[in-house]
Amino acid sequence: MKELMRLDKYLADMGVGTRSEVKVIIKKRRVQVNNEVVVDPNRKIIIGSDLVCFDGRDITYVQYEYYMLNKPAGVLSATEDKHTKTVIDLITTSKRKDLFPVGRLDKDTEGLLLITNDGDLAHSLLSPKKHVDKEYYAKVEGVVTNEDVEAFEKGLQVDEDFLAMPAKLNILSQGELSEITLIIQEGKFHQVKRMFEAVGKKVVYLKRLSMGTLKLDESLKPGEYRMVTDEELVLLK
Ligand code: URA
Repeated sequence: MKELMRLDKYLADMGVGTRSEVKVIIKKRRVQVNNEVVVDPNRKIIIGSDLVCFDGRDITYVQYEYYMLNKPAGVLSATEDKHTKTVIDLITTSKRKDLFPVGRLDKDTEGLLLITNDGDLAHSLLSPKKHVDKEYYAKVEGVVTNEDVEAFEKGLQVDEDFLAMPAKLNILSQGELSEITLIIQEGKFHQVKRMFEAVGKKVVYLKRLSMGTLKLDESLKPGEYRMVTDEELVLLK
């Protein structure tokens, strides 16, 4: 089925201007569809078939955008918030209004967050049925032991209502502050922190390293992002 879209939305989505700026631009006869000037912002465009030009430049519609963000601490995994900066506020090069984070990281958690407007991909990555691996790195107060590894492996009773699925705990260093990586397939609220609480330990630093096949690009500093590559996207889908 061919997808139809209003001309003003088409141009606004592609960053030509806000919806109202775009309406003015159209009225000023600066936009052509299939080589004819169009003055009606409501004109329906057949995506992928109609040729849209603005000041003589072809404007191709890109339906989905995908960004890999290294989420910094102190920023909310939400689309908007009156008081606190959100992960969407960090994606400054996109004008799209429909971007959202795929899943949530706590305000104090850092690391990989996929930002997109592709609801189907988000759904398949977040669906509990799909068992998508999520790998975290953490610093944990207290000595993380091999018993913890076994308990996590068996499936940990986190609290009365929550029995975690088997998880792969890997100890990187043991001490007053232990370093670990953990692979889980669920994404319950505060899951990693709650799993360590259940074995009497406290997560003091948490960073997500990967989600499915998508791995955090370690050259991204906290707060930085880049577009997901075609190769990464093919693997992810
Ligand atoms: N588990 C947590 O406890 N917090 C996160 O942000 C992600 C997983």
